[in-house]
Amino acid sequence: MNQAHIHRLLSSKLKEKDPTALFNLRLATNLGLLQHLFFSLYPEESHLDDFNRLIDLFPKLFATRPDELKRLDLARLQEGSWFLSEKMVGMQLYVENFNEDLKGLQKKIPYFKELGVNFLHLMPITTRPKGENDGGYAVNSYDKVDPKYGSKKDLLDLTSMLREEHIHLMLDFVVNHTSDEFPWAKKAKQGDKKYQQYYYTFEDNTIPNEFEKTLPEVFPETSPGNFTYIPEMEKWVMTVFNSYQWDLNYTNPTVFLEMLANLTKMINLGVDVVRFDALAFLWKKMGTISQNLPEAHSLISLFRMCLQVIAPGTIFLAEAIVAPTQIIKYFGEGPTEGNECEIAYNASLMALLWNSIATTKTGLLYKSLSNVPPKPNDCTWINYIRCHDDIGLGYEDHFIREMGWDPQQHRKFLLDYYCQRLDWSPAMGLMFMYNPKTGDGRITGSAASLLGLEKGLKQKNNTLVEKSVDKIILLHGIILAYGGIPMIYAGDEFGTLNDYSFLDDDAKKEDSRWVNRPKQDWAVIASLGIGETPQSKIFHTLKKLIAIRKENPILADKSLPVLYHTGNDHILVFERKAEGNEGLIVICNFDGKPQVIEPSWIKKLGYFTKGDPLDLVSGKKIAANSGLLELLPYQMLWLKKS
Ligand code: GLC
Repeated sequence: MNQAHIHRLLSSKLKEKDPTALFNLRLATNLGLLQHLFFSLYPEESHLDDFNRLIDLFPKLFATRPDELKRLDLARLQEGSWFLSEKMVGMQLYVENFNEDLKGLQKKIPYFKELGVNFLHLMPITTRPKGENDGGYAVNSYDKVDPKYGSKKDLLDLTSMLREEHIHLMLDFVVNHTSDEFPWAKKAKQGDKKYQQYYYTFEDNTIPNEFEKTLPEVFPETSPGNFTYIPEMEKWVMTVFNSYQWDLNYTNPTVFLEMLANLTKMINLGVDVVRFDALAFLWKKMGTISQNLPEAHSLISLFRMCLQVIAPGTIFLAEAIVAPTQIIKYFGEGPTEGNECEIAYNASLMALLWNSIATTKTGLLYKSLSNVPPKPNDCTWINYIRCHDDIGLGYEDHFIREMGWDPQQHRKFLLDYYCQRLDWSPAMGLMFMYNPKTGDGRITGSAASLLGLEKGLKQKNNTLVEKSVDKIILLHGIILAYGGIPMIYAGDEFGTLNDYSFLDDDAKKEDSRWVNRPKQDWAVIASLGIGETPQSKIFHTLKKLIAIRKENPILADKSLPVLYHTGNDHILVFERKAEGNEGLIVICNFDGKPQVIEPSWIKKLGYFTKGDPLDLVSGKKIAANSGLLELLPYQMLWLKKS
């Protein structure tokens, strides 16, 4: 039982309604875990005063929470794990690209309703440096709206409207670093010792050089190394991401306390889900890669347990794009199981789907997914195909070898396939951060361009266009049916292609991720009702699949998907089961040719008891009379037990 359960249980037993009394109860309930986590990072002998400062901070932060949100917190606590629901369907978007600004976004609420989206991830909207700013991930503030998006009032109007419309909101909390223009960084540059200790600053490069021996490079092309010399300060500062993003020094407890206050300010704007950005990097230790360290987990859990006291309705998403066996740890382990992040990106599923498209085979996907330890109950995934970032090829080498492939050669093949180095490949992606030292690289591009739509349209090749449309639908169908919250990247719902305009912008041209940060094309959207264009087929099919997801509680993330092997290595089959005899089985063909499977085992599972089952995707009955079940190229079936 996690802490959220205990809070729910206590508040229901006591029938207590007063928010402050319940806040005190939550503080008392979490105190044991809080002190354990706090003192594991900041030893008790020297940090008792700091712990007292934390305790004193709680009522102050709680007092800043608007009454309406306090009421919502309590309702959420009673409701339980609302985020597991089949009704959750997300969309990630850049406000400026979607419809100019926050007011413009608000006007588009009917669009989300039409499509069935009820969960929005808005990319960073707070102030940031002019020029390069990593798409707003270099923050000048955690709660001041950048004027290009509108005013604070516009944001509050939007969040209140979203609540009315039952649309959940996720914003980023850039917890690992600030920009070099953030007030603390400015003071540090002016020589203020207190603020220099908010970051990892060094007199000379002796310690940085030691760190470099084991630290990997995140942006080797544009920002090699992990430290930057700051002439004004005459010091080196740790900058793991870009040179203008300074890593916060969480070994200093004051940084933790100040960041907790910043987090509270941000969620008080009306945020339901906090995307904890780059959280794997939160703790640094010389001699390690300084990712996924146990201290980072303790720190995240500490943030989580504090926020649960202040705002129990707000939950955390782990943005940990790391190895599958590491991602799962962000749900918490041992005493912190279920007390760290409620949601994590299913980066493994995402990367494996792209592998299956390129290879037409599902073996690596089966091997990897069946070896991920089960996640705790009441935690869930964000399932996605594309986002604003690159696709990293984070597969486990030993599984690649078991497939009979050489890991390095295989990754090279994937880069070649997606990044236009193979004539026969339909993909039109770009390489991101190719590292000639290691041969590693990542892939960027829009889903549609990576899946062949751009090439198909350019070459006026109808077969290619049709196949790409089917692939786009297939991948989205999987994330809609697999356990977790599907997150659609804005524009993918109607097959938006790569946007090359970033090449003309000095602040963007070095970062090829911008190729997949296009403007939402409202002219195309306005024409979606007309004719059978590839865009309208994608849009209307996804809209239908979203509606089907929402009508089928079996797709809520209350049970783990069950994988079935078919003997055909182009096919993926998983089943969603619920208590009783309910079931929905998803059968996918990753090949460009028709494929067959022998269906007697599906019959044994009970899918043919009332005659041929209905495929929810096509609305047609599926016959397996000839003894074999045939799937067309890239076809996906959703069969429901009747
Ligand atoms: C996350 C963001 C990415 C950004 C990085 C540094 O990984 O998704 O876009 O570059 O954090 O903040």
